[in-house]
Amino acid sequence: MSLINLKDLLNHASKNKYAVGAFNVTSMTFIDPIIEAAIESNSPVIMQLAEVHFRYLNLEHIAPAIIRAAREVNVPVCINLDHGKNFETIIRAIRAGFTSVMFDCSAEPLEVNIARTKEIVKIAHSVGVGVEGEIGNIGGEVVGTAAPTPHEANVESFTKVEDAIRFYEETGVDALAISVGNVHGTYKGEPNLDFERIDKINKAIPIPLVLHGGSGIPDADFKKAISLGISKINFYTEMSASAVKAARNFLNENPECISYADLSKIVQADIKKTVMNRMEVFGSKNITAADKTLCISCDEVSCGLEDPKLKPQANTIVYDTLVEMISKEVLGNIKK
Ligand code: 13P
Repeated sequence: MSLINLKDLLNHASKNKYAVGAFNVTSMTFIDPIIEAAIESNSPVIMQLAEVHFRYLNLEHIAPAIIRAAREVNVPVCINLDHGKNFETIIRAIRAGFTSVMFDCSAEPLEVNIARTKEIVKIAHSVGVGVEGEIGNIGGEVVGTAAPTPHEANVESFTKVEDAIRFYEETGVDALAISVGNVHGTYKGEPNLDFERIDKINKAIPIPLVLHGGSGIPDADFKKAISLGISKINFYTEMSASAVKAARNFLNENPECISYADLSKIVQADIKKTVMNRMEVFGSKNITAADKTLCISCDEVSCGLEDPKLKPQANTIVYDTLVEMISKEVLGNIKK
């Protein structure tokens, strides 16, 4: 199946009422266990690199490794830039072969967010790359060694239904990240998702919805959110914390260990376990099993998707092709 465009993947998820887990990759260590989890779970997967995590990794080095792995497996893999804040980062990701970019301009006023996201959509769509936008604000992602301070969602910054409609209509994004009580990192107390708002936004706009800040949300809440229109769930902090705990236990039990390779194997096994568990909860497990009809990136007639427009566009874009494909008009817009 190989690489897949965000739009094709999430449209399938939305139609079939499951969510695709989007797992943040912060080093090479994460690639193999996430891919293995997807293969063993017969599940599509999104691997994403957040701009804020570039302090830990080299985008241009890690992207080819993910793309190579994706091309060799028979489950759909989408490679997404998570919370891209700068125009340069978006272009670097497209150039590196990502099949999706999230442009996060949510801290700006709605007008600015719309205007900038619209430009990104024009560029990304011209080379077959999907775009996730965000309105409402859920705060920054987790970085640093210490456990993040637990925090509560700010009701003031929840996504408004009328803003979602306007944003969708004016930008043409393929998926929308919404603020509905979700926060990145650790929740203060129990998360309190605004299910009614998810439902209203889902009924108001015809694109898949994205839930960031997956760590700490109870399984039952995930299931309810998916039934109401969430099709992509971002998940990182819990996966990372669990891997660190596994490493700590291993080192405590094996104080003589000097093999980083062995330590890394322990960490990878734990990441794989977490990801497989999430895939089950998100309902994406066995979606690509032989008896299912998911066939989003092949030419089979019996692919289960009636709409021919959903045929794959998941191309790896090399920079030369990108330059060739972006029209002069788009480049003119960027310079303004
Ligand atoms: P968590 O780290 O809270 O799971 O959130 C991840 C995320 O939303 C990345 O964009």
